[in-house]
Amino acid sequence: MALWHDRAGKLSPLRIFVLLGLFAPAVAFIVDVSFRGDRPPPEMSVAIHHAGDWALRFLLISLAITPARQILNWPRLIQVRRMIGVGALAWALSHFLLFGIDLMFDVSKVLEEVVKRPYLVVGFAAVLILAVLGATSFDAAMRRLGGKRWRNLHRLAYVAALLGVVHFLLQAKFNVSGPVMMAGFLLWLMAWRAFDRRGAPPGFAVLIGLAIAVPLLTAVAEAGWYAWKTPAPPLRILLSNINFEAGARPALWVLTGAAIALAMFLVAKMLKPAPAAA
Ligand code: HEM
Repeated sequence: MALWHDRAGKLSPLRIFVLLGLFAPAVAFIVDVSFRGDRPPPEMSVAIHHAGDWALRFLLISLAITPARQILNWPRLIQVRRMIGVGALAWALSHFLLFGIDLMFDVSKVLEEVVKRPYLVVGFAAVLILAVLGATSFDAAMRRLGGKRWRNLHRLAYVAALLGVVHFLLQAKFNVSGPVMMAGFLLWLMAWRAFDRRGAPPGFAVLIGLAIAVPLLTAVAEAGWYAWKTPAPPLRILLSNINFEAGARPALWVLTGAAIALAMFLVAKMLKPAPAAA
């Protein structure tokens, strides 16, 4: 079955859209490198960062498919979850490959670098988990493992995402806005999952609770990090979330994401109200 076909063998616009989305960041990068005018070519580190960013983004997007599917009441979204997860693996492997190219494929140098830096050990662990999940993402592996064992194994995607966020945080030199924002999104996804395991899918009350609690925790985590690593007063960092003196803080992006989830829930409910009790 071609990647752009659904299980019934029909052309799937949703799968085509997602497939194009997975390649789009690579095309954008190649276009940027090819048409630079007077600008000098980017350094290899720019490509490494670009691939790392997209590996983590696609990994979190793959984890967001189940909540989105339930919130939007759109079961067919499941058709693209595996594709996005494998896409995240491909971006993570490209990120690792570019790191290897930067070191001229000197395997002993690559291993030496990885072992010496904790953030690389963490990234390496994340790649290994993603590779295991990728290798067992096919129907045959699912059948061989059995549904329950397969689902338990694939929960490791949360561990890989957590390691990806820690790796992102540890490699950041000073500005931790990106990793803190990703940590906030991951916290929302994990909290949603925790509520989802209690029977019925999370409803309005859970979504509103998450939209308040997760951005607040994100803001506190950010202030805590700077308080630990720099002499900046934590209160000033917390207040920057409401006075915007340093631009939009990670908590605001997390709040935006949580508010979008809530809005999607309300719109889906309006369009498809639950059947009235007999
Ligand atoms: C063996 C595995 C890995 C290696 C060797 C590796 C290596 C690196 C290196 C060298 C950097 C740049 C650090 C700097 O400039 O000081 C980086 C950044 C990054 N990596 Fe990895 N990485 C690995 C795995 C991963 C994985 C699995 C993910 C995501 C799931 C990831 C996401 C990122 C992100 C988001 C950044 C920062 C990008 C930015 O600052 O814009 N990495 N990694």
